[in-house]
Amino acid sequence: MHAPYEVPRLSVSDVALADADVDLIIIPVAQDHTASAVGAYDDALGGDLGSALERGEFRATACEMYVPRHPARNWRAARVVFIGGGPRADIDAEAFRRMAATAAHAARLQHRSRVAWADVEPGTLSTGARIELIAEGLTLANFDNGVHKSRDNRQFFFKEATVLTGPDGTAAVAVGRAMGESINAARVLINEPGNYLTPRILADKAVALAAVPGITAEVLDERKLEELGMGMLLGVARGSIEPPRLLVLRYEPADAPKGTLLGLVGKGVTFDSGGLSLKPADGMERMKDDMAGGATVVAALRSIALQKLPVRAMAIVPMTENMPGGRAVKPGDILRGAAGLTVEVNNTDAEGRLILGDALWYARQLGATHVIDVATLTGAVVVALGKITTGLYGTPQPWVDHVAAAAARAGEKVWQLPLFEEYREQLKSEIADMVNSPGRPAGSITAAMFLKEFAGAGPWAHLDIAGTAWAEDSKPWQPKGATGAMIRTLVDVARGGLPG
Ligand code: BES
Ligand code: MN
Ligand code: ZN
Repeated sequence: MHAPYEVPRLSVSDVALADADVDLIIIPVAQDHTASAVGAYDDALGGDLGSALERGEFRATACEMYVPRHPARNWRAARVVFIGGGPRADIDAEAFRRMAATAAHAARLQHRSRVAWADVEPGTLSTGARIELIAEGLTLANFDNGVHKSRDNRQFFFKEATVLTGPDGTAAVAVGRAMGESINAARVLINEPGNYLTPRILADKAVALAAVPGITAEVLDERKLEELGMGMLLGVARGSIEPPRLLVLRYEPADAPKGTLLGLVGKGVTFDSGGLSLKPADGMERMKDDMAGGATVVAALRSIALQKLPVRAMAIVPMTENMPGGRAVKPGDILRGAAGLTVEVNNTDAEGRLILGDALWYARQLGATHVIDVATLTGAVVVALGKITTGLYGTPQPWVDHVAAAAARAGEKVWQLPLFEEYREQLKSEIADMVNSPGRPAGSITAAMFLKEFAGAGPWAHLDIAGTAWAEDSKPWQPKGATGAMIRTLVDVARGGLPG
């Protein structure tokens, strides 16, 4: 077993490209580069880049790579690799991060221990944003998900990364590193199988992950949950031999406005078998990632604290397995949550909304003024938006807009779906306040409508990451498995400050 990732020693330097004493220099090139921009380093390469561009061997499309035959004359670096950017106007945050991660992945394959990134392609991003994304992308690439392989798993991580830029990029590098590191840590948890990550283990690991200056942690056990009356979380947990947990992390820096408190709530189902409404065997193994929302909010709070952002924030994660044991909740059973509402459980596989209902109520109890929950909640959102886009819901509209704007800055795709009152009809139960499974039509929307009943009166947004939390195939910038989707967006919400 080796480490799942290594955070490289990151620094900035303003030495000239020729003088960088490294094993590999990565140079970004936009498709619509100017001849003079390319000429500067092409002279040193004996015209190799220029002729590759002219012949069309290298077109500088997004994440396309070109390795010149010979290292540059009179340069100290052993090797050079060019990474395409596509049209300059299209190089947004996500495109830039992908370029960095793709090139850094190549550096690993080449076993280059000391890499440098030449910050020569301005694109449309600010210098600070670019340096953050370079540091983040390089850190993300130094990740490997084969930690449990005992054979044939030689992994190479690079040790040092230098951003060749102006003199004052140090703060931006630190921000990017904190982000990349937090995302990597979340991906490790999300990839972990259910037998290695029970609710109790997840609670321990999340507390360890959040052990950074400024965060205090509390883990509520089943007795405490009983006292609080969390019948929905306890009800889901009854089918498992493993007891549930509720994690509460708080970050309340002295310099933060006192009137607002951001409550981040994440679904923490460490394995979702469906319970007695058992899922089909085919693909059930994927349901080890059903705690992705929980890992997301923990990683986001960690990153917020590492960046010392002046905002009060909290992460709340209900943790449980969903299993069909002898004491399991049965279809038709009624559960009563901490908010006092009763729910007829007509499908035990709609467990996420049950545990989140109790957690959302608790977030308000603890004083959260602005709430965002993140959950692998419905297969229906995958039907609607595929694996590209996260489903966004919420109220009031300015708060939803605020979250969507943060996602746009972070380079993560979200799309809002409606919460029209008419959908509430589907939640009706003959014998309780509502059912938990309102049928197939608009499945992702009605799940959000259910959560809304527990979200309280203040600003609330819901992110359904069932499609975006997991990548089904490996890409040069993202190995198959956990993605860490929405961590950046949550951090960016905190960066923007909360509306009053
Ligand atoms: N964890 C699943 C949702 C899910 C499905 C995530 C596919 C990732 C990929 C959730 O608990 C669930 O089972 N939802 C049901 C709800 C239904 C019974 C109302 C679903 O989507 O089928
Ligand atoms: Mn389920
Ligand atoms: Zn689930």
